[in-house]
This record gives sequence, structure tokens and C-alpha cells, in this order.
Amino acid sequence: MLHVQEFVPGRIWLIEYPIRYFGMHIYARTSLIKGQDGALIVHSGCPLDDETRHFVDGLGSVASIVVPGNFHHMYAAEWDRAYPDAELFASPGVARKSPALRHARLIEDGVQYPWSSELDHRMVQGNWIIREVAFLHRATRTLILTDVIEYFTDDTPSDWQVRFWLKTVFRMWDRPAFAPEYRMLWRDRSLARQSLEAILAWDFDRIVIGHGELVHADGKAAARRAWASIVG
Ligand SMILES: [Fe+2]
Repeated sequence: MLHVQEFVPGRIWLIEYPIRYFGMHIYARTSLIKGQDGALIVHSGCPLDDETRHFVDGLGSVASIVVPGNFHHMYAAEWDRAYPDAELFASPGVARKSPALRHARLIEDGVQYPWSSELDHRMVQGNWIIREVAFLHRATRTLILTDVIEYFTDDTPSDWQVRFWLKTVFRMWDRPAFAPEYRMLWRDRSLARQSLEAILAWDFDRIVIGHGELVHADGKAAARRAWASIVG
């Protein structure tokens, strides 16, 4: 059954789907953003079964398929095959992990893309292993992230392994925080700070993230707290 919610009426829908990551059973999230022109942007695509496709096709026509980070490319090739008229865009680092996506257009800072009339984008730089692009949906002041914030609470579906690692070991329960891969593997903290400060300068209030609870209000304060070890 499709787990979908209309996050911003008529503009942003979210689909949650189960994944397994290092033995943990968690959920990941796809964002579907509908532009003023009716075109859909698919951010971090989920498995594309018939039910999902039927739902998506009912919303509008898929124009852009965005692979926002190099840990969120698993199902992008399915979307790419299913929607050959859509353009495929990928964060740096994706092509190396998924040769099937090598033809994707690389996302770079400071470049205009078809979504730029709706969304700003900014690379999160400075990590050894994670490459991710953050997005701002300007009209609804919604920040759309992938892994640079995770937010797990007792309300988040989780198994004992999730609770062991995220609650007991990493102590990132009940608060938005960097994913452990970010926290442990900074390569250039100054570069990371520049990226995160640029994102904090955006005008946003809500935050959509790849895993865990959504932030419905006061998102900027939540992001600043989550990133305090880098942005101070
Ligand atoms: Fe992730």
C-alpha cells in the first residue's frame, strides 16, 4: 500500500517506503513537487510499482527526475526508464555508484535548471562519502533535504537495531541531527560550513528529510541546532 501524504496542498506530496540500510529497517521518503506549469519534479524516487505510477500520473506529467544524493540513487533508473521524456539530474558522485545513471545531467551550484523557477539548490560539500544537494521550495518556504538531517523519535517506525545505533550509540534521538555518516566523516569543515550557512540563509520554515520525522515549523532553528557542530 502506498504511504503518501499531501504535505503542501496542491504543491508537494511525500511518499514513504521501507528500505534496509546496514541491517536496519527504516523508511525513506520521496518528494513530488508540482510546478506552477503543472510539471512534476520527482526528488529521490521510490520503487516505481503500478500503484505509485498511477498516483504520480494522476498528479501531472513528470518533467524532472532528481537524484539528490549519492545514497539515494537506488530506484532512479526505474523512473528514468518509465518516463523517457523526463530529464534526469544527479548529484555529484551518483554516476560512480550507478553506471546506469551516467547519462544524468550533473547538478552544480550556480547553474539554472528547469526547476529553478520553483526551487533553489545548493550542494552540501565537505564530506568524504556523502554528496547531496539541498533544495528550497521558495513559494512554500520548504527546505527539502536528503541525509544532512535525520530526525528519529519514539514515533518513528524503527527496529531494535535503529534504536541501538541512533539512540544508544549516536545519541541522536528526539532531535534533528546530522546523519552519522556526515558527523563522522567530515573532510573539510570550512567548506561544509559555507554550504550549510548558505542553506541557513534561505527563507524556510518547514523541513522535509529523507528519513524520520518532518519538521513542520521553526525549521531554521531546528536546522541550526542540528548543524551546530559545524556552523556554531
Ligand atoms: Fe538516506
